Amino acid sequence: MIEVQALAKQYGSFSAVRDLSFSVRPGEVLGLVGPNGAGKTTTLRCLAGIIPMTSGTVRVAGHDLAVDPVEAKRHLAFFADEPRLFEYLTVRQHLAFVARIYGVRDHETIATPLLEELELLEKADELPGELSRGMKQKLVIACGLLHSPSVMFFDEPLTGLDPLGIRRMKDSIVRRAQAGAAVVLSSHLLHLLEEVCTNVLILKKGEKVADGTLSEVSAQFSNGEAGVSLEEIFIRATGGTEG
Ligand SMILES: Nc1ncnc2c1ncn2[C@@H]1O[C@H](COP(=O)(O)OP(=O)(O)OP(=O)(O)O)[C@@H](O)[C@H]1O
Ligand SMILES: [Mg+2]
Repeated sequence: MIEVQALAKQYGSFSAVRDLSFSVRPGEVLGLVGPNGAGKTTTLRCLAGIIPMTSGTVRVAGHDLAVDPVEAKRHLAFFADEPRLFEYLTVRQHLAFVARIYGVRDHETIATPLLEELELLEKADELPGELSRGMKQKLVIACGLLHSPSVMFFDEPLTGLDPLGIRRMKDSIVRRAQAGAAVVLSSHLLHLLEEVCTNVLILKKGEKVADGTLSEVSAQFSNGEAGVSLEEIFIRATGGTEG
């Protein structure tokens, strides 16, 4: 569903991501973790076709992102860490606008339950300026889910949400994966990642240091100890906090 081969991204002469390969199958949730500056956002932006990669191949739902970007993007959704909205469109108008762009027919039947799921129904006729930060984030999520993507990239989707919002977001990600979506999720909230992810990929200074199921990656860094947390594994794998 998501296949990444030898992805590299340079910003000028700075190499932010190098030789990164992995794949995510339908039903899998991959946790992308790494210290600040490790290259998580850069990777997700490249995978979503928001910034051009320097080299490598990305296939989304069978479509090569470089060869067939429109088809690839039809199947994916990218959720940025900073919610960006249109100041003069209400919550409902945002959804109508996104429905137009993606050619979603009869979008009201999808939009209303989505707004309900994300607890935004009461705010349907308000402008972004009248929403809290967490509500803005939820609106961005509603917009991204409207075209029923089969591939989803989340950059820090849980920061800014209240505890109930976090639980609902987790449930919603798990539910969509169980329905066959392939998900990549970057977060520093490792105890939450442990609950939603099937797989984990650890990045350090733009390079992959581990990749596999949660138990495979644990086995690699646990030195035979049982019950080692993802947080402890992260610290062992990345050796401190600098990217
Ligand atoms: N537009 C840009 N131009 C130049 N360098 C950039 C740009 N965006 C990111 N970088 C650099 O690339 C590296 C990776 O940044 P990135 O944002 O991908 O890290 P991250 O893993 O998402 O970190 P965080 O956990 O802080 O979100 C950093 O060294 C950063 O300074
Ligand atoms: Mg980031």
